[in-house]
Amino acid sequence: AFIKIMKKIESGEELSYEDIILLLKTERKAEMDALFSAADQMRKEIVGDVVDVRGAIEFSNVCMKDCKYCGVRRSLPTLERYRMTEDEIMEIVHELHAMGLQTVILQSGEDSWWTAEKMIALIKRIKTETGMRITLSIGERPQEEYARFKEAGANNYLLKIETTNREIFEFIHPDDDYDERAKCSEWLRELGYLNGSGCMIGLPGQRPEDIARDILFFKEMGINMIGIGPFLPAKGTPFEKYPAGSVEMTLKAVAVTRIVCKRVFIPATTALASLDPDGQIKALQAGANTVMLINTPAKYRYNYQIYSNKNMIDLHAAIRAIQVTGRKFPSYLKIDVEGNIDA
Ligand code: 5AD
Repeated sequence: AFIKIMKKIESGEELSYEDIILLLKTERKAEMDALFSAADQMRKEIVGDVVDVRGAIEFSNVCMKDCKYCGVRRSLPTLERYRMTEDEIMEIVHELHAMGLQTVILQSGEDSWWTAEKMIALIKRIKTETGMRITLSIGERPQEEYARFKEAGANNYLLKIETTNREIFEFIHPDDDYDERAKCSEWLRELGYLNGSGCMIGLPGQRPEDIARDILFFKEMGINMIGIGPFLPAKGTPFEKYPAGSVEMTLKAVAVTRIVCKRVFIPATTALASLDPDGQIKALQAGANTVMLINTPAKYRYNYQIYSNKNMIDLHAAIRAIQVTGRKFPSYLKIDVEGNIDA
């Protein structure tokens, strides 16, 4: 049966739900390797060898939600909360711009201090001072705010569904409604954002069937950027004693997502790099084509551990991964062969 599915992939035939489950369930080394190389081949043909590099700024760890897995959830009384000022954020944005990066990711908890007005002022400032592309990752907001952010110059939005299994979704997200989350994604698509979603692998009660549905959801929703990472236990959360998701299942999900969704951006996630020191490299060889650098100032990083022992991917780690995998640096990056910035 496995061979038959690989033939389907080669001939460009669409995979069924059952095919996807079978691929996700295989634990044979030879079959997994065949799956990864099929995904790697497809990545090469469809999006090429350039690894897109983006810079992320985690600008506020204040969050009104209490997601049970998350290390910045509301109910963590000892966590020191921070909000970067607009000027602090701009300082980092200018550094990223000087490195030649074209996209800045603004990520935060669901922090109502950052009103639409304040976000719009920040978006406009980034646009006028640098012209960079802007990715927002600030959670669920009213449709009208998404529209105004777009109008102000935001280009991309990341809002993960995390799991398409409603029961699991509602169990892990005490403040959220599955339909509302999916609705937000639809609004973002309708508004013309490059639309990011993704899921966690290894959530309590999650089966390969659920992950297969996640992948089909990304395809049906026309999602453009798909971040897939293992669940990692975060200290002080209700899930702190739960086992981490598996590296292999995450890589299988990345590979199948590339094969099913084809022309999409798939990051080698920070979560995977945190679980496995070679995670970034392995993901790049199983269908992934982008990496995200964490550029949150050192003094704040410690307090943005959405999971414990988060790996801070820096430019040097990313350069090494691109070199080891024999891939191409984006031509916009202003770095020399040693990886020094030569702005
Ligand atoms: N383990 C793994 N991933 C997590 N995220 C948040 N908390 C965890 C955790 N404990 C992921 C979610 C979220 C993204 C910002 O990080 O997928 O969307």
